[in-house]
Amino acid sequence: MEFTAQQLGQYNGSDPSKPIYVALKGRVFDVTTGSSFYGPGGAYTMFAGKDASRALAKMSKNEEDIISSLDGLSEKEIGVLNDWEKKFEAKYPVVGRVVS
Ligand code: HEM
Repeated sequence: MEFTAQQLGQYNGSDPSKPIYVALKGRVFDVTTGSSFYGPGGAYTMFAGKDASRALAKMSKNEEDIISSLDGLSEKEIGVLNDWEKKFEAKYPVVGRVVS
């Protein structure tokens, strides 16, 4: 399944009847089983319905970092992102990709 950024945004946990999605490097993961993290009131709810690649690479919750761009990231930050990707792959199903 393909999602535009806007479509992805509908899976941000605000509608309890919908799954919660977080994208990493353009791949959309169904993180609904992690709703305690990503659902309303969760510590990482700001990532829900977004491609959080840059934020995860930088270990940042700042709004300006919650984007897909990897521009200018250090090798270390790319390594952090790849570790998150492995964690997500092991824990959550992939449901599609983000398209522009
Ligand atoms: C003092 C700072 C922090 C502490 C003590 C902390 C602690 C934790 C703990 C205990 C978990 C649960 C791990 C598990 O049960 O698998 C977790 C998960 C997570 N943390 Fe943090 N964290 C901190 C900061 C951050 C920051 C700044 C980010 C920004 C990227 C972040 C991103 C995440 C994410 C995305 C998860 C959820 C992973 C999943 O879906 O399983 N954390 N954190």
